[in-house]
Amino acid sequence: MKKIEAYIRHEAFEAIRKELLERGFPSLSIAEYKGSGRQKGITEHYRGSELTIHLRPKLKLEIVVESKDVDVVVETILKHARTGRIGDGKIFVLPVERAIRIRTGEEGEAVLQAHPAEEIPAGA
Ligand SMILES: Nc1ncnc2c1ncn2[C@@H]1O[C@H](COP(=O)(O)OP(=O)(O)OP(=O)(O)O)[C@@H](O)[C@H]1O
Ligand SMILES: [Mg+2]
Repeated sequence: MKKIEAYIRHEAFEAIRKELLERGFPSLSIAEYKGSGRQKGITEHYRGSELTIHLRPKLKLEIVVESKDVDVVVETILKHARTGRIGDGKIFVLPVERAIRIRTGEEGEAVLQAHPAEEIPAGA
């Protein structure tokens, strides 16, 4: 199992979420992050004074998948997150040692299987 962590622009997320869902990856987490890349800062002017903004808002997308699925997920993220402009973000792939579904106690790759659509009760 691998965990894919992607720092992306907010605008890219909806298209990524939609395509991952279509490809059978409904489970993911996101969080608002602030970070800096190699530009170190962007200088802006506010009421006559100059200030350098070091931290830019990004979304962090986290998704744990079977190792065989890493490439398709990475390609999906790249497809929608790359504009070619500075600050498109970054993707990291990490090993995952254990996964446990709390409700059932299931372990391992079984935890990563998507539900068949008919089994999902509304509001779950
Ligand atoms: N090495 C890193 N470790 C942790 N987070 C990182 C790292 N590199 C980038 N990030 C995160 O990714 C965000 C976007 O990075 P960014 O796209 O600016 O990377 P970059 O290396 O400067 O590339 P670019 O030249 O395309 O801007 C950062 O704001 C930060 O949140
Ligand atoms: Mg940058």
